[in-house]
Amino acid sequence: MALETVTSVEHLRSAVADARSANRTIGFIPTMGALHAGHLSLIEAARRNGDFTIVSIFVNPTQFGPGDDFDRYPRTLDADRAICDAAAAQVLFVPQHEDVYPKGDQTRVRPGPLADGLCGPFRPGHFEGVCTVVAKLFGLVQPDVAYFGQKDAQQVAIIRRMVLDLRMPLRIEACPIVREPDGLALSSRNAYLEPDQRRRSLCLYQALTTGRDMLRAGESVNDAVAAMRERLERTSGVSVDYVSVVDPDSLDPVTDTKSRLMVAGAIRIGSCRLIDNVLMDLSVDRE
Ligand code: PAJ
Repeated sequence: MALETVTSVEHLRSAVADARSANRTIGFIPTMGALHAGHLSLIEAARRNGDFTIVSIFVNPTQFGPGDDFDRYPRTLDADRAICDAAAAQVLFVPQHEDVYPKGDQTRVRPGPLADGLCGPFRPGHFEGVCTVVAKLFGLVQPDVAYFGQKDAQQVAIIRRMVLDLRMPLRIEACPIVREPDGLALSSRNAYLEPDQRRRSLCLYQALTTGRDMLRAGESVNDAVAAMRERLERTSGVSVDYVSVVDPDSLDPVTDTKSRLMVAGAIRIGSCRLIDNVLMDLSVDRE
């Protein structure tokens, strides 16, 4: 079946109703477009599960701060459509602003303490914007399963909590991070990087894997964090928002090594902000 591009709520609802009457499971991949192999992996996960697969593209203004890149966020609809088509998604939903934020809109979904650490302090209001738009998109699409990337680990944790807390009737699936061959996590924002910034951006993944290897070797969390910070700070033009070792579920910083950990960091290079993380399970990794 060819990809259907849907730009109205009525059209969306009739496509979803048809899929439901054919007993299909609805799989949903919310995105902000500028699709790349990371997004593609989520579409493929839905297709592998046999879902009727709906991808949305909406650059959500409420998750951008005042100085953020909302205006220059890459918008590449034709190329995005080709990617969705090639991946055999059934519906590409491109809502209008008023479909998501109807006239007079005033309701917001405010996350709890999971949004307080990691990226939270550096992006005030960001996760409230994310929860709000994702709740709205879930209301529009009414999926059975929604697919998110582990690349935005804090986002997935917050969305899982939102789904649980608001008793939303769907399942969240987190998919592994897709990287460039040299290790850089794919991101729509990588398009902002000048060639020399692109080279230097690798320090983030290198720092995180250094930290992971130190923890695996039995070194302390403090020493691993210090080494990661040093690795990042000696790269010229890079400023560090944070580098941290946290519990992958609560996202609380850990001081003692536990079996399951997430090593996470965020840096700025020029006007580009990059985030990345690696998950580790020492009970398995050390075998
Ligand atoms: P966006 O940045 O477009 O990402 C859409 C989805 O793709 C997210 O779940 C993200 O984690 C996933 N993704 C991005 N890069 C990835 C990579 N390298 N590997 C695997 N998955 C990756 O995240 C958002 O949009 C927005 O906040 C959104 C949830 C759509 C709400 O506006």
